[in-house]
Amino acid sequence: MLCLTMTGRTLEENLKLKENLSPLVDLFELRIDLLESIDIPQIAEFSRSVEKPLILTCRRERDGGAYKRTDRTRASQLAQLLESGRFSYVDLEEDFRRSELEQRAQQRGIEIIRSFHDTASVPSDLFTRMDRIARRGEIPKAAVTADSISNVLTIFSARQQLKELSRYIILSMGDWGVPTRILYKLTGSFLTYVSPEGMPAASGHLDAQAMKHLFRADQVDDRTKIYGIIGNPVMHSASPKIHNPAYMKLGMNAVYVPFLVDDVRTFFSLADLLGISGFSVTVPHKQHVLPYLGKITREVKQIGSCNTVVWEREYWKGVNTDYYGFLKPIYEDLEGERIKKAVVLGSGGSARSVVWALRNHQCSVTILNRTVEKAARLARETGASWGGLDELEKIREADLIVQTTSVGMIPNDGQDPIEAYQFRGDEVLYELIYAPEKTKLMKRAEAAGCRLISGKEMLRAQGILQFETFTGLTFPLSEAEVVF
Ligand code: ATR
Repeated sequence: MLCLTMTGRTLEENLKLKENLSPLVDLFELRIDLLESIDIPQIAEFSRSVEKPLILTCRRERDGGAYKRTDRTRASQLAQLLESGRFSYVDLEEDFRRSELEQRAQQRGIEIIRSFHDTASVPSDLFTRMDRIARRGEIPKAAVTADSISNVLTIFSARQQLKELSRYIILSMGDWGVPTRILYKLTGSFLTYVSPEGMPAASGHLDAQAMKHLFRADQVDDRTKIYGIIGNPVMHSASPKIHNPAYMKLGMNAVYVPFLVDDVRTFFSLADLLGISGFSVTVPHKQHVLPYLGKITREVKQIGSCNTVVWEREYWKGVNTDYYGFLKPIYEDLEGERIKKAVVLGSGGSARSVVWALRNHQCSVTILNRTVEKAARLARETGASWGGLDELEKIREADLIVQTTSVGMIPNDGQDPIEAYQFRGDEVLYELIYAPEKTKLMKRAEAAGCRLISGKEMLRAQGILQFETFTGLTFPLSEAEVVF
């Protein structure tokens, strides 16, 4: 079940949220601590207007909420609301036992969610505490804070550890916790909380629209094929917006989830536990995954970097779709020898894939980099030439310029790695940066009449290839349908 946390500062705001978002969710949580003022009769009336089950919550500051008054006042306000409002659940903290509240809830058929919060870590006695609460006939809720993939693994082990319990809620806050929210059904949690768009109630909360329509979190079950992306950072990744809509279009029971990962080895344990079918790999793990792969393609071996890992019955196989994604827009020009000479700006991880892809297609390559020694190293390995970013005469005869440095990327848009270079107009500019969509270098090349290939095109091409590697199916969406 998806539970919308009402984050409005007034009941009017909450009323609007309820009206707009009710079709997306199964129940609501009213956070009275977020209200500008607590007016008992008005809140009671509001609760009676909510057609779906409603949780009453008044979160203290030390648990991540906004309630500043004393525990005594809080108890009294909650008691009045339990008496006069219409709630299905009340959320009371583990260290806040008040027999008068418990009795009143029981008399009125309101279930108690007994919560504990850890805003810094995952407590080691997590499961014993939850078990103890459940024995009292209450619904245990643990909102904890993972700060490693190992903590995330612990949270997903809840289903095994708490299999005797009929209902509980478990989640991790923050970016680490995002998979525990999207795949809440695989933690055994009976609900997950969502926020209105742009108004997250807690760190790591996803909005109702994304949970319902992008991730389809409430439809995940034991047969759902799980895919994802690992990286650090990873939450900005556009990949979920490429893969999830494609599953939906094909009616596949599948989901694509971002996993923040510090330790690749532990992530492979999580992949085993969840039965993950395949995942994308981004910075800084493209090399780290290599020791865990049972099979790799020629390109992965050559480049020493892998961005796509797929489970093949008995082992993990590594592919590099950056390589093929890069080639796709220029493939015919390379084959038709319309592109024979290329200059690659930069010699980092992206440049490695690019240079190998070009060299494997008989293109002569010159690598220009700020740190000339790094350009020389990559050039010696790949049979290319090299120079510094200021050696602009080396670009003169190039049919293709590939820009792989981070110069011009948000937040440093407006910068240009080869400011003094005058475009002829007949060279192709291939920019790997996708944010901004048009870098300063692209604008200059466009003004000179050059053909442009954008980072977005490559991103889309590699994502589509990844989809096809994962599923064995043809990517079903048109260019216009992939919005990221
Ligand atoms: P990626 O994986 O995206 O390729 P990377 O491996 O960190 O990222 O490589 C970054 C590239 O951008 C390098 O070629 C780097 O040049 P150096 O090797 O000299 O570090 C280049 N780069 C980053 N900032 C730069 C700047 N301010 N001016 C010029 N080049 C820059």
